Amino acid sequence: MRQQIAAANWKMNLTLTQGEQLLDAILKNEYSLNEHRKVVLAIPFPYLLPAVNKVKNTQGVFVAAQNCYNKKSGAFTGETSVEMLQSIGVEYVVLGHSERREYFNESNSFLAEKVNIVLENNLIPIFCCGESLTIREEGTQNEFVANQLKESLFHLSADQIKKVVIAYEPIWAIGTGKTASSQQAQDIHLHIRNTFAAAYGNEVAQDITILYGGSVKGNNAAEIFAMPDVDGGLVGGASLNADEFAIIINALK
Ligand code: 13P
Repeated sequence: MRQQIAAANWKMNLTLTQGEQLLDAILKNEYSLNEHRKVVLAIPFPYLLPAVNKVKNTQGVFVAAQNCYNKKSGAFTGETSVEMLQSIGVEYVVLGHSERREYFNESNSFLAEKVNIVLENNLIPIFCCGESLTIREEGTQNEFVANQLKESLFHLSADQIKKVVIAYEPIWAIGTGKTASSQQAQDIHLHIRNTFAAAYGNEVAQDITILYGGSVKGNNAAEIFAMPDVDGGLVGGASLNADEFAIIINALK
């Protein structure tokens, strides 16, 4: 089901106390959230359980893990299974963030396995895609992103694909303060939706939630989110400030 989502990605930041203070500050604001308008907080593993307990009674706010492993359980020291995440009440998992692709060599096929295990456990993948600056300068970003989607997602059924949230995050806009223009975001979001339409039909494609990520801030969120194929954002730096993230949440359509 297509939704509007303001997702925070805390990445590897904050101590427990800082995280609790940030979460309390986010939750004390009023937002008009409902089944179609949500906040998802992707926070570090050690704080997932306390965060789940804190957001439990707040409508429209959910907790995401920033990663998981592609195996059910077993001798994989240091890894976290989807079953573990599910058992503590986590509902979303960010997969294939460009930082994981780059620093941990996560490939499209490896991510396809993670998508499968997340869906098998009834959690929702937030699947990240997006091109580097070199690819953008070559002008081949559409083909590059379509290939990421094809290799990791196109084995899914129509019912499964509708559950996946897509986050388009151009690498050149992440943490750089250099955001894509709202028109650049719209153009590639439409391309992503058309890529799904070609594989699954237009009705399915219209149902897919596609978030934009890359230097989303309080002062540009409304313009970007207003674009017809942008269904919210995945926010890094600006999500670490409760007041700024509140502006971003309120910028959702
Ligand atoms: P910034 O918002 O800090 O650019 O990070 C974007 C991002 O990577 C979210 O996953």
